[in-house]
Amino acid sequence: MSRSAELSRLIRDRAGEEPPEYGLILGSGLGHLAAAVEGVAILYSDLPGFPHAGVSGHVPQLVIGQLEGRRVAVLGGRAHYYESGRADVMRLPLEVLKALGTRQLILTNAAGSLRAAMPPGSLMLLSDHIAFAGTNPLIGEASEARFVPMSDAHDPTLRAGLKAAAEAEGIALPEGVYCWFSGPSFETPAEIRAARILGADAVGMSTVPEVILARFLGLRCAAVSVITNMGAGLSDEAISHEHTKAMAPLGAAKLERILRRFLGQAA
Ligand code: HPA
Repeated sequence: MSRSAELSRLIRDRAGEEPPEYGLILGSGLGHLAAAVEGVAILYSDLPGFPHAGVSGHVPQLVIGQLEGRRVAVLGGRAHYYESGRADVMRLPLEVLKALGTRQLILTNAAGSLRAAMPPGSLMLLSDHIAFAGTNPLIGEASEARFVPMSDAHDPTLRAGLKAAAEAEGIALPEGVYCWFSGPSFETPAEIRAARILGADAVGMSTVPEVILARFLGLRCAAVSVITNMGAGLSDEAISHEHTKAMAPLGAAKLERILRRFLGQAA
């Protein structure tokens, strides 16, 4: 049995057989969404091979249960490329979601904004992304499946559903391009100007490798950024991880309303 099949067996023994319809990956400061799920929580430390997400503001556990009448699997505590230098660090958790029967994935993250109209506390739905970190989680993958098309990586149907949910909640959810920087240092002002020229609307240190892996595995996905700060050089405010964590709840409350509405209305 493959490792993902073994882990999926272990998880189903504890949480039940019903496949989660949606997987959710929670970004920095967005962990409390997991608490809204009525279900079973399993610590990553009980799931051999799951990454030890070392970033404060993340709770390293998988929660499976009901949210707004939908069965969901919530990954709190994602691991980042910058923690290990491994861009495929989230591969096993995503393989396990697939083995559980999940086919749709919603990713969230904290990000810096490059647009004045998208200040801290606002949200952005990813229309597309730029893998500026210069690596790829599928490097070393031997199968032909590694040549993953990325034209509609950010699924139009899921995006339309999230936009409709935002509209129904009266919350602005502009679409934009997310540029993945490796971190863990924040960008320089020159890098932020460069990202703007490249066509980015927000910058962050996550999500893109997971979207690539999800597409490789055949999961449909969409991602939402919670804007915690303006990109370096775009405002006088100092950028820090503390600030990110402090600002995330502002947008997180709105994101939770959108996700609840989205799940409640999903066909
Ligand atoms: N840059 C990169 N990642 C981030 C930022 C940022 O400005 N804010 C939150 N995550």
